[in-house]
Amino acid sequence: MIQGCAALGVATVPPSAMAARKLRVGRPGTPAGAAGTFWIGGDLQVNRMGFGTTDLVSTTGMVAGDPAQLRALLRRAIDLGVNHLDCADVYGSGQVDGLCERFIYDALYPYPRDLVIATKGGQTRRADGNVEVKGVDGRPEYLRSACEASLKRLGLEQIPLYYIHQPDPAVPYEESIGELGKLQKEGKIRHIGVSNVDATQLATAQSLVKVVAVQNRYNVLSKQGEDILAKCEREHVAFIPFSPLGGRLAPIGGDARLAAMKALAADKQVSLVQLALAWLLARSPTMLVIPGTAKVEHLEDNIAAAKIRLTATEMQRIDRFG
Ligand SMILES: NC(=O)c1ccc[n+]([C@@H]2O[C@H](COP(=O)([O-])OP(=O)(O)OC[C@H]3O[C@@H](n4cnc5c(N)ncnc54)[C@H](OP(=O)(O)O)[C@@H]3O)[C@@H](O)[C@H]2O)c1
Repeated sequence: MIQGCAALGVATVPPSAMAARKLRVGRPGTPAGAAGTFWIGGDLQVNRMGFGTTDLVSTTGMVAGDPAQLRALLRRAIDLGVNHLDCADVYGSGQVDGLCERFIYDALYPYPRDLVIATKGGQTRRADGNVEVKGVDGRPEYLRSACEASLKRLGLEQIPLYYIHQPDPAVPYEESIGELGKLQKEGKIRHIGVSNVDATQLATAQSLVKVVAVQNRYNVLSKQGEDILAKCEREHVAFIPFSPLGGRLAPIGGDARLAAMKALAADKQVSLVQLALAWLLARSPTMLVIPGTAKVEHLEDNIAAAKIRLTATEMQRIDRFG
């Protein structure tokens, strides 16, 4: 793998100079930019419609389909204006560590200058036959090695947005977050995000470092953590709902509670999935969505949702569903 390259054109700029430079990198004129842009950490401008990469790999560590078609899908996402990709070192880590990160590198390197690749460390995963075995490891030394491995696999000198994937109950959260702070000072990560956190954990992280993104589960049927969303909005922290469509295991499309929302979607001549994404985008200006798919037609439909506009009455109707 080639190293010393970087998204955002930062490879030749030392971290101190990068911190001082405000990067304008969004592409507001593209389909993914139809819902507007957001400045992550105040200096990385992304279109609010992004892409989650889990579905490109299987839970037991294989590329989830024809690699050529999936590479084409990633490139199609970029062509449509996606410039925020969400990944994690454990995606696809059944047999090969960091398969999804490797796949992103294979498909997109050299990266477009405006691409913000977000990745995560702190979970562990292995395949035991067809069974995915999940774990968590928030020890500082583990997070450091995970971050350094992600840097190599992605071919980056600096990860634009690096999350701790989830708090480890066996390790004080302060210690895990403190290590991310050190990695940031060393220039290995530009911005810090947290995921799967409650309000107390978020406050702990914020007392130690500047947190620029929170990634928690949130969708039309799963609205826990409204207090965290409100805090993010007040403080201009990106709120990135994972499983915006319910996820692989519980897709919202099959949920009987959403019959009325399906009717509203039909009235508006959009799909239920598109309406669910449009609702998230309209819910808060701090919300960035990262729907995942391995199908190009779904990718195109999802990105088209960025241009759907909802009235206040429609928002209230959707708020009551689920
Ligand atoms: N931080 C965390 O702990 C965490 C946890 C989970 C996920 N994530 C991140 O969040 C991203 C999104 O979450 P997710 O993958 O759990 O779930 P999701 O985006 O809510 O849903 C993905 C599922 O929806 C289907 N889908 C997508 N577009 C569709 C469309 N237009 N019509 C019908 N079905 C559609 C996909 O199947 P097809 O392939 O058939 O389209 C896939 O099975 C992930 O890729 C990952 O980056 C983070």
